[in-house]
Amino acid sequence: MGRLTGKKIVLGLTGGIACYKVAELTRALGKAGATVQVVMTQSATQFITPVTMQALSGNTVYHDQWDARIHNNMPHIDLTRDADLIVIAPCSTDFIFKLAHGACDDLLSTLCIARPAHIPLLVAPAMNVEMWQNPATQRNVALLKADGIQLLGPAAGEQACGETGMGRMLEPDQLLAEIIAAFQPKTLAGKQLLITAGPTFEAIDPVRGITNLSSGKMGYAIALAAWEAGADVTLISGPTALDAPYGSRRIQVQSAQQMHDAVMAQLAQKHHDVFIAVAAVADWRVSNASEQKLKKTCATDTPQLEFAQNPDILAGVAAMPGAPYCVGFAAESENLLQYGSAKRIKKNVPLLVGNIGHATFGLDENELILFDAHGHQHLPRADKQTLAKQLIAEIAARIKP
Ligand code: CTP
Repeated sequence: MGRLTGKKIVLGLTGGIACYKVAELTRALGKAGATVQVVMTQSATQFITPVTMQALSGNTVYHDQWDARIHNNMPHIDLTRDADLIVIAPCSTDFIFKLAHGACDDLLSTLCIARPAHIPLLVAPAMNVEMWQNPATQRNVALLKADGIQLLGPAAGEQACGETGMGRMLEPDQLLAEIIAAFQPKTLAGKQLLITAGPTFEAIDPVRGITNLSSGKMGYAIALAAWEAGADVTLISGPTALDAPYGSRRIQVQSAQQMHDAVMAQLAQKHHDVFIAVAAVADWRVSNASEQKLKKTCATDTPQLEFAQNPDILAGVAAMPGAPYCVGFAAESENLLQYGSAKRIKKNVPLLVGNIGHATFGLDENELILFDAHGHQHLPRADKQTLAKQLIAEIAARIKP
């Protein structure tokens, strides 16, 4: 099951060099399970051919209001009636103007005006920095927002014209993330979330250390699901090989002490509604870590490591006055029901999520048990993104006033 399975997306292309990136977006939407109906303006056909877009989407591409292949000759009506979402990418300066003023002088603009009110319209602007900053464009953008049309980007950076600044279209993977998010219920809109994820790394010397098998995948999936649900997300991550989850602010740390300090700094900076401690934090650090690399001088000379206990980040946050709603994780190797329930009480958190550590670390799938004051609840084996979405829904339901 892709994340867009069963969704029909009308993908509108307008004139702009960023059309080449939309070829990749079309593939990505298809891979995610969506049916893609491409509609192009005449200008867009200057940048990428309808043949290419038809081959990639697997569906007939329309660019003419008078296309007789539609039986009733009304493509501006028929193409959206079973659609779930319309996205215009790239969206040119001129097309923003048209949308803002209700112009209908070609198929795509007429189709947008004629869309049923329940179908979300997303636009991904792509233009030169001066065109984007022009007060006329900004006036039109404000009109789109006032009409409930969602702007995706633009981003800042190098532009095809050689200038630099705002106006670059978002990358295909970013557009895909935004489109998937548009389908998620905004159960955490306006909420501030702080999440820890991944393992920690406790140094033995400058090149060696003690860590664990946590990949960070579960925590990163939760960060993405929280952003998709409308939250503002800060992710404090131990060392992982993962890209930052789209939409979150990621702060990277190594040791448990650094993770602790980063969490406390965030909590001191602003109010947070929810704290989710997903990280597999090392309980001990090496207290006699060496400044220099330990050398193997002779066979009998084995280093003696000494340990000191790390601060318990979750318990510390849960004990703070006015603490956010705290969610803990328990990675156990056995007796999950018994240990999970006891750990929730020991850490004094309203919700604790249990999983069998060695059955999930590094994998894309997991199985969770939620422990709260009323007992426990099983979330059956599924991919981590699906479980993350379910967990976020459970948290959202619990923090509702
Ligand atoms: N945790 C934390 N800081 C620590 C240790 C753990 O914030 N120093 C958090 C983890 O992020 C997780 C929860 O506490 O949310 C439980 O972690 P776990 O390692 O399973 O439990 P421990 O308290 O370390 O207990 P034990 O190792 O004895 O099972």
